[in-house]
Order: sequence, then C-alpha cells, then structure tokens
Amino acid sequence: MVLAMQGKPVKVFATADIGPAALDRLRERGYMVEVYPEPEAPPKSVIIERIRSGIDALITTVRDPLDQEVFAAAAGTLRIVAQDAVGFDNIDRAAANRYKIPFTHTPDVLTEATAEFAFFMLGAVSRKMYPSEAIVREKRWDYWHPYLPILGDEVTGKTVGVVGTGRIGKAFAKKCLGMDMDILLYDPVVQDRKFAEAVCAEMRLRHEAGFSPQLRVASYESFEQVLAQGDYVSVHVPLIRPGEGDTPTYHLMNAAAFELMKPTAYLINTSRGPVVDEQALYRALIDNKIAGAALDVYEKEPLPAESPLLDPALRDRLRLLHHFASGTRETRLSPDPNRGMAGRAVQAVIDMIEGHYGGNPAKMPYVVNKEAFEAK
Ligand code: GLV
Repeated sequence: MVLAMQGKPVKVFATADIGPAALDRLRERGYMVEVYPEPEAPPKSVIIERIRSGIDALITTVRDPLDQEVFAAAAGTLRIVAQDAVGFDNIDRAAANRYKIPFTHTPDVLTEATAEFAFFMLGAVSRKMYPSEAIVREKRWDYWHPYLPILGDEVTGKTVGVVGTGRIGKAFAKKCLGMDMDILLYDPVVQDRKFAEAVCAEMRLRHEAGFSPQLRVASYESFEQVLAQGDYVSVHVPLIRPGEGDTPTYHLMNAAAFELMKPTAYLINTSRGPVVDEQALYRALIDNKIAGAALDVYEKEPLPAESPLLDPALRDRLRLLHHFASGTRETRLSPDPNRGMAGRAVQAVIDMIEGHYGGNPAKMPYVVNKEAFEAK
C-alpha cells in the first residue's frame, strides 16, 4: 500500500537512520521513506536536492544546518521538518516561519536519560573513574595504597548548582536529592518556586525518615551565587546566540564565570557546546581555577583533533563524551512516541501529513514554531 495525497505518494527523507522500528511505522502506513545511507550527515546540497525533488516531510538531526537557503527551497512543497532531538539550535526559526513550515522536536522522552547521564558524568569525573580504569588497563596497578596515585572527591552531601531549570535541569536536580546534596537553582528565564518548595519538602521527608543525616536545602539563587557556592555546576540551558532572544546563553560559562567558581569545583555540560567558552574552560583547567569538568557537547562537533581540550595534561580531570547523553536504546530508538525520540519524530510526521489536530500545526504537541500558525 502506498499512501497518496492528491494522487501523489507521500515521500519522507530522513537525513539519518533514526531507527528502523520507528521508520517502519511510516512504511506500514504507506509512506515512501528514504534514509540517507551514510553514518555522516549529508551535505546541505543533498538536503536541498531531496527537498527540490518534492518530499513532503524531512526528518533531521542536530547535525543538519537548516537555514534560510534550505527553507527557501522548501517553500510551498515541504509540509514538515521533524527534528529527532529536543534541541533545535541548528534550525533557523525565523526562516521556517517566513515560509510557514512547521518544525517539531522530541521533548520529554529524553529528559531522564539526559539527566541521569549528566549525574553519572558528575560522578565519573569527581570519583576519577576514568583514570582509575586506565591504571588497571595500562597495567600500572603495582600496589594498593591509601591515597596513591590518585584520590577522588566524594559527592554525597555536597552542593550542586543547576544552571537552567527546564525539564532536564529539574530531572537532574531530582537525581541529586538521592545523594543528599544542597541544590542551588538558577534559570535565566523562569524561576519555578513551586519546584524548589517541592524539593525542600522531599528533603524534609528524607531527613525525618533518617535517610539524610542533615536537613538539606534547595533554593533559587543568582547566577553568581550558584557559581560561587557550587561544588558542582551542571548546565541545562538551551543555546541562544546573541540576537536570538532576550537571554542569550552563548558563552554563558566564560572566563568571568570560571573565575567565580571554587578551585575545587567541577563543571558538567550536557546542554549545547557553545554555552561554554572552550578556550576559557581550557585556561581555567590548566590554571587550576576549577578542579575538573565533564563535557558531552562541544562548540564544534565532532571535537576537532586540534582542540586544546584533548591536551593529555587534562586527561585525568576532564571527561569528554561524544554527545551521548540521550543515547540509550529506549530513548533513541523506541517507536513509541511516549518513550522514544524516533517514535516522537515519526508521530510528528503522521500528525502533520494525516491532518491530526484539525490539521493545525499550532495545536500539534511537538511543533516548536507554533507562532507561525496561530490565528492573529
Ligand atoms: C540532543 O542533544 C538533543 O537535543 O536531543
């Protein structure tokens, strides 16, 4: 069976294989699905060429630059861009709106996976798991000693700063509850006081039950306070470049921010690379302004071979992951829109192409640029 609209088959182009089970949901409904066959991102020219060939839906990832040129090519033919990610800083929203093309993302289904990964990165860098394993693997484990050759920093009972309290920042804060940490919250846009109160209530319960020897606190603070007091600072803000909004987050973590942090503190970043000024981070680490860092995202991805972050001098204090925080089998691949990113991306295509929600993108749950479709 081939799904047809006005006599023409409905064609979908995916710039990456987002997972066979989810793409099969489209195929089973009669969509003609083409997947870019290479593991690397397609050149922009290939995306434009597929758009010009008359595809109805485009499934993208964070690697694809969707700019004015792409949306201009799509005008009048492409019905939807379904991004297989929660972040969408690779998509020029103004250009999408100019040509009235809805684009969607995959919120919620990756919240827990990303938050737990951020927490595990915090643990890995603080407890020196990578250098410990390297000692064993490189056959350098010559004796057991009370403190040689390395020691880690205990996490339990410390203070964590959460920069950005959207879905993932909050989920991360909740994971920290179990480690009896004091939790300092900062958000450049919205302060969810109810959330802070709920965390405090949970902390009281833990204390009263005897789980937590000391009564812990959670509170919203200024950015400066969070940096100055945090033993760990974990970043969960979207990337907003200057000119893109009232609260830019580009290079939020810069030399001045590292100057405020404790020399014993660690930075964790699972948000977007350009939120951290990598040159400034390198200097802060080399000059011992901070104790360490764990990064999952970079100013340029994949991380260039010449990046100073790869300096062997930082190996034991700087964890570098490959944009992997949402990378669980369930979260990346599940065809269920309430469980997986792939499921949510294909559901967005189905909603749009099959006219769910009265065919109105402003009413569709995963559409980001609703403003382009709201009645004025
Ligand atoms: C991953 O980085 C995402 O935005 O989903």
